[in-house]
Amino acid sequence: MARSAAGTDGVDRIDGADRGERLTFPAGFRWGVATSSHQCEGGNTANNWYAWEQAGHIKTGERAGLACDWWRNAERDFDLARDLGLNALRLSVEWSRIEPRPGKWDGAALTRYRQMLVGLHERGIEPMVTLHHFTNPLWFEERGGFLAADAMERFDRFTERVVTALGDLCDLWCTVNEPNVYAVQGYLFGAFPPGRKGDALAVLRVQAALARAHAAAYRTIHRIQPAARVGWAQNVNIFDPAHPGNPFDRLAAGLQDATFNDFFPRAVASGRAAFPLSLVAGDLRAVQDTCDYIGVNVYYRDLVAFDLRAPTELFGRRFADPAGARSDQPIGAAWGEVYPDGLRRVALRVAALGKPIYVTENGVADAADRLRPWQLALAVRALRAAITAGADVRGYYHWTLVDNFEWSEGWKTRFGLVALDPQTQTRTPRHSAALYGVIARANALTPAMLEEYAPAALDG
Ligand code: BGC
Repeated sequence: MARSAAGTDGVDRIDGADRGERLTFPAGFRWGVATSSHQCEGGNTANNWYAWEQAGHIKTGERAGLACDWWRNAERDFDLARDLGLNALRLSVEWSRIEPRPGKWDGAALTRYRQMLVGLHERGIEPMVTLHHFTNPLWFEERGGFLAADAMERFDRFTERVVTALGDLCDLWCTVNEPNVYAVQGYLFGAFPPGRKGDALAVLRVQAALARAHAAAYRTIHRIQPAARVGWAQNVNIFDPAHPGNPFDRLAAGLQDATFNDFFPRAVASGRAAFPLSLVAGDLRAVQDTCDYIGVNVYYRDLVAFDLRAPTELFGRRFADPAGARSDQPIGAAWGEVYPDGLRRVALRVAALGKPIYVTENGVADAADRLRPWQLALAVRALRAAITAGADVRGYYHWTLVDNFEWSEGWKTRFGLVALDPQTQTRTPRHSAALYGVIARANALTPAMLEEYAPAALDG
């Protein structure tokens, strides 16, 4: 097993002793890319994000607009995925297209999604379909989003429609994307609609409501399609104590972890929330045992220092290790350290749930492709280390195939293996696309690939 070696700049590398290893993956491993409807389709005008963009809330003043033009021609990018040798792709269906008004269903939208899924199968690509990836139909948002009393029933009806229409073309479902990010960005930081700030109770209530909606969707999908595999995508951020020897830092890091990372997985594992979150979460018993796999979205690591001046952050001041790698950054905020070994740690942690694991997202904002080959190589190595140590990881979906609309950051930050000019719709593969392609085709990471595509991942 490869060890990680810290280079002089603190960034992980593969050292000389480990360089000769070919790291193979289990047969049938899924090498994919992850995407979402609003970020790729273009022309979504009936959801809360469209309204949010029109109201001028995107930091760059931009809009999703045509995005990657998927509604008209997702197939162009499916070709790219096939040509790279990928065998999996995660996309989401846009609720506001399928149910533009309450109870009014748009059959043509479902037909287009059928076409897309057929297109993926024709290219030898297995779809994973997400039912909710941050966007809500405007009518649903206006009724209070997931805090409305009938939100779960509404979402369940939508789920039933989608699975009835698409179930013969998909058996791998992701109910909800990143309930924790959705809740925190929308109700604590105000960067996502509905733009509420500092409402910590709502952050918990929204996650609890999403957990119940997820559980209902899990049962509905299985009723329609008994053999389906159903899970959700949890964003897991690594919070390490700034000084591991300091018990206050450890406590502060543990609190961040408990509130951000642990709420949803705990609800699924035990049907409960930890005290005192349980006082707000309501009844979660129905959530227990509602996943066939766990999806994890893994990006960053933060160090956490105990700080009495940060009560609203649970007395934990978060910052990126100054010696660690940093991606392109958002405007007026900061993303943590790019930390590929997080995949190993997270996979081993969630393995305790006893379910198969998919990395439903992992990637880096890096327009110049300065870090991505290094990040990708070390992430793949970290994943393989987790598998060797016993984690049942079935697939890895890189975020993302083609640059897409990055929510409140607009078009400024670029996560694509392939660069996109949204004006001309011109696509230009980045160097890391070639690396990902050879990994996927070989179902392995080899020393020759590192030498050729990711020399920064090697020391010396
Ligand atoms: C989200 C994606 C987003 C990505 C990169 C994840 O939190 O699911 O929609 O584009 O991170 O920031």
